[in-house]
Amino acid sequence: MANRVALVTGGNGGIGTEICRQLAAAGYRVVTTCFDAEKENVAEWQKELAAEGVQVDWVECDVADFDSCAEMAAEVADKFGPVDVLVNAAGITRDAFAHKMPQENWDAVIRTNLDSVFNVTRQFVETMRERGFGRIINIASVNGQTGQFGQANYSAAKAGMHGFTMALAKEGARKGITANTVSPGYIETAMTAAIPEEVRNSIVAQVPAGRMGRPPEIARTVVFLAADEAEYINGANIPVNGGLFTSF
Ligand code: CAA
Repeated sequence: MANRVALVTGGNGGIGTEICRQLAAAGYRVVTTCFDAEKENVAEWQKELAAEGVQVDWVECDVADFDSCAEMAAEVADKFGPVDVLVNAAGITRDAFAHKMPQENWDAVIRTNLDSVFNVTRQFVETMRERGFGRIINIASVNGQTGQFGQANYSAAKAGMHGFTMALAKEGARKGITANTVSPGYIETAMTAAIPEEVRNSIVAQVPAGRMGRPPEIARTVVFLAADEAEYINGANIPVNGGLFTSF
């Protein structure tokens, strides 16, 4: 994948880090966005990856803010050139039952998980069309397909992401661009570690695989979809959830 540039939002998160690692291993020039470089200790994170021989560059960006995304895109274009692969992986949870949910929980999740996908993609898709190549991969969730207790905001955002994916898939299909969603189930990350233990155990008990997923299992799917040869997979929502939710 010499010369292909991959931008991963939220690349320093649990799933994001593994996506960066595997894209770099596959030969992509990998760049990630981070919200607050100092707070997120991104320089430290970058050093740790470098010690493994993985080179990832980063730019600061608030994906919930359109103007910040425009600035980030200009910086990326300037330093690394046009983006070939965009992975929208930035996301947060602010769980609460809908009848108790403060409006700020709703707003934060919709802005960070859904508005962000437009804010970031909008910066790159025009150039992808001009260049006749693009891979857009949106990291959603099984909970966008099934709904989940305490996640009206998150489930709505993740379901919305796939609506966006499907529209984009149609718009880009004749321009060499694909857009696909990857919907992870419960994956071993800080996000799932924060679920109350009893609830987490009851969820894992429902997973046919009998365990939580691992970040490399998501990253593998992303690298597969990013390949030039994956052009005919477009508008799909690929579940990686140990059989927790299946459909046909
Ligand atoms: N399944 C079944 N019952 C559930 C449940 C679930 N997933 N979640 C909560 N409940 C039940 C509780 O067991 C409890 O039942 P009882 O009243 O009979 O004891 C009842 O709902 C109320 O629960 P809480 O006392 O915990 O109520 P709360 O208001 O303090 O918190 C909650 C509610 C925010 C939903 C909390 O239970 C919670 O955080 N649940 C986990 C939500 C979750 O699954 N988040 C996923 C995060 S990871 C992620 O999002 C990544 C991804 O993509 C998969």
